[in-house]
Amino acid sequence: MSAPTYNIGLCGLGTVGQGVWKHFGRLRTDLEARLGARIELSRASVRDLSKARDVKVPSSKLTTDPLSIATDPDIHIVCELMGGTGVAREVTLAALKRGKIVVSANKALICAHGAEIFAAARRGGGAFLFEASVAGGIPIIKAVREGLVANRFPRIYGILNGTCNYILTKMEELDAPYASVLGEAKRLGYAESDESLDVEGWDTAHKASILAWLAHGVWVRPDKMIVEGINRITPADFKNAAALGFGIKLLAIITRDFKTDEISVRVHPTLLPQETVLARVSGVFNAISVTGDVVGTTVYIGRGAGQDATASAVISDLADAVSLLTHGKGAPQGSPDLPAAKGARLAPLERIRGRFYVRLTVADRPGVLARVATIMARNHMSIASVIQSPSETPDLASLVLTTHDSDERAMRVALRALARLESVREAPLLLRIGDLGD
Ligand code: NAP
Ligand code: HSE
Repeated sequence: MSAPTYNIGLCGLGTVGQGVWKHFGRLRTDLEARLGARIELSRASVRDLSKARDVKVPSSKLTTDPLSIATDPDIHIVCELMGGTGVAREVTLAALKRGKIVVSANKALICAHGAEIFAAARRGGGAFLFEASVAGGIPIIKAVREGLVANRFPRIYGILNGTCNYILTKMEELDAPYASVLGEAKRLGYAESDESLDVEGWDTAHKASILAWLAHGVWVRPDKMIVEGINRITPADFKNAAALGFGIKLLAIITRDFKTDEISVRVHPTLLPQETVLARVSGVFNAISVTGDVVGTTVYIGRGAGQDATASAVISDLADAVSLLTHGKGAPQGSPDLPAAKGARLAPLERIRGRFYVRLTVADRPGVLARVATIMARNHMSIASVIQSPSETPDLASLVLTTHDSDERAMRVALRALARLESVREAPLLLRIGDLGD
């Protein structure tokens, strides 16, 4: 019997699309032998046909109409690598409606329209595969969904944005301001086309939403999370953190209390003890700590963004798609529809407890520290340490407080009162201290 042939259409030939084209071309013969099928990258779409690209794609295969790929009866697998939630959604739904398999790296789309997309995949009889959407080259979707299927997950946390981890690492290493290292992360192909998604924490929130859904079967949208980014962190914060024994990482933290069935999802820069594994994960690398009630804690580390790492994850899904088409099995389908999701509810964010780091830029004169301390005491917040250092601006000082254990509500009330003090000259910066173990 001759081997079946499957055609792939690539919607998007940017950083990731070109990586897939390049590596797929190199791996094709091996993949075909392994999968027992012929696989053809038969069409690709771009926005601008005249743009120079690193890969050579015959013009007969190129189009500016991604929808024509999604609806092409000869295409079996549609790979959506455009990004965004407009055309990408149309293309994805059109392909799924026709029973095709869609492979996607688009976490923003999945977070916004995951429920609709997985329902469309079930109705159409195709599948939606999304390994590249979280943590780049780390196979975290497979790990949570397949490798750890015996577990419930009280806690998953990690560094999920390569751009931010790269920026934070360079700021600390080079004592450089945030804006001066952002350009390099963009040049290296790590950042989203709208980089505010990275640095304001939204991209991490999209990925956290996908992980929360995989682990708990519920969609938690970013507006139900704490989401804070890295754009107000300065090189001085790294020095303060180091003096206190911490590094700074942008973390997503997903917890579920199985006694109360409360879930919380938050994304914020976090002070991590320097000796912990995640505090030492640098550059574009991501790291995810997954605690399962059967296995205990497992940790996954690898490149979280960039052309090659992401292409590796996309090609893994393409191989699964071919297995599904050939044998009717391979990657498990869509929503886990976990029975455990029933009864799960979101914990009120203001009840989340922890320790805090607050940096204030204050007038350097007598009585200021006393006023700050009074506000903290009024809100029942106990100060653990104070670091005062001169500011670059004359007559101003930087005042860094850390607190003992308290809750978000008290901290937010105190922060508003601090911001209203005449002697506080800039919006306070709040960071959380992560007491997360490994
Ligand atoms: P990119 O470099 O901006 O590439 C986007 C591609 O899609 C380009 O080829 C662009 O055409 C095409 N495109 C965009 N909008 C289009 C439209 N409306 N109609 C037709 N074509 C359109 O983006 P990327 O970095 O490869 O990212 C692609 C997806 O992968 C995104 O969802 C992103 O979040 C995700 N992702 C990226 C990474 C990473 O490290 N970069 C990692 C994981 C996941 P032109 O080339 O003609 O402009
Ligand atoms: N912009 C994303 C990041 C790409 O830097 O992590 C990978 O999802």
